[in-house]
Amino acid sequence: MMKTLAAISRVDIDLQDRSYPIAIGPSLFDDPLSYAALPCASSALIVSNSTVAPLYAHRLESALRGKYSHIHQVVLPDGEEFKTWETLNLIFDALLQNGCDRKTVLFALGGGVVGDMTGFAAASYMRGVPFVQIPTTLLAQVDSSVGGKTGINHPLGKNMIGAFYQPLLVVCDLDTLKTLPTRELSAGLAEVIKYGPIADLVFFDWIEAHIDALLSRDPASLAHAVKRCCEIKASVVAQDERESGLRAILNFGHTFGHAIEAGLGYGQWLHGEAVGCGMVMAACLSERLGLVDSARVRRLKTLIQNAGLPVTGPVLDVTDNAGRYLELMRLDKKSLGGDIRFVVIDGPARASLRGAPDALVREVIDACCLRV
Ligand code: NAD
Ligand code: GLY
Repeated sequence: MMKTLAAISRVDIDLQDRSYPIAIGPSLFDDPLSYAALPCASSALIVSNSTVAPLYAHRLESALRGKYSHIHQVVLPDGEEFKTWETLNLIFDALLQNGCDRKTVLFALGGGVVGDMTGFAAASYMRGVPFVQIPTTLLAQVDSSVGGKTGINHPLGKNMIGAFYQPLLVVCDLDTLKTLPTRELSAGLAEVIKYGPIADLVFFDWIEAHIDALLSRDPASLAHAVKRCCEIKASVVAQDERESGLRAILNFGHTFGHAIEAGLGYGQWLHGEAVGCGMVMAACLSERLGLVDSARVRRLKTLIQNAGLPVTGPVLDVTDNAGRYLELMRLDKKSLGGDIRFVVIDGPARASLRGAPDALVREVIDACCLRV
């Protein structure tokens, strides 16, 4: 079937010899043309999970058939709680059992969990094989598939083991969002909203005006949101690929959010839900540090709520809730020498990384969490 070119957008990640395109549009992932520019190889491994594989893996396999003589598949268990060494090893098992060589291309078909694990497997198998991201959640299309952060969780901390490793190509097929559960769509909207306060207030206004259209999966609204988020992320990653500074702003809300995920046990709150609530807490901290006015914080909280996301933090410990949050946040990758560093909003569409006194952070947690 012919596609209208106008429906397809392209955003480029500019990283010298690691540059790659992100294709955004409908009917892309099962079209052989999407993969025409990939280097030749004899084999491919599709990595997916037990939810996404039955929906889409056969169509991806058909699209790749003319390009690779051997197409293998590995289906991982579904869930954040399976983002572990054990699950990662299933990918290595599949690669070795099928005699995959160092030209084998890995295709990550799924959300951020599949994408992060496939990328890490690609970074380490035979010290590095090529891989392609085919994100099928909104969260993965606007964030996790782009920029080359790959990895797994450790029981003591989120995404603690991993590598920076860029894909060859990202294919954001907007049609795959049609089968996404509503709760997952909302979780993805958290990462969409994130880009407003840290980088683009015009986009924030646009999201406010289009939140109902996004929740009802209006194709044009989703296409605009995915494209704008990828553009912002591309610009940040091109300036600071390995997070020596600027890239940390993409972690707005994540310090509190990761504590929620680890503290409740991975998979209890979705990553996007924890990030949404974490952004409310980080904005509240920014306000208490005198960096942003209360009206801006209120607007952000209302938008997060309107996206169907929780805005009140869970209790992680009934005896010392704030203490438990602090303990978990000290393990954050941005901490230095045990000092937690938060991404705060410090101007219109501007964010930065800074510390805050424990007493102030405790006040924020007490104000933003459910009462015991
Ligand atoms: P996920 O991968 O768990 O996917 C969410 C759920 O939706 C899963 O049950 C999945 O099977 C299902 N699903 C996926 N696509 C579907 C579809 N089209 N139809 C129906 N069901 C579908 O979660 P996520 O929100 O995509 O990603 C969260 C993960 O991404 C976290 O582990 C987080 O740490 C990571 N992340 C990484 C980065 C990065 O830069 N690498 C950025 C943000 C988040
Ligand atoms: N999601 C945060 C980053 O890619 O840096």
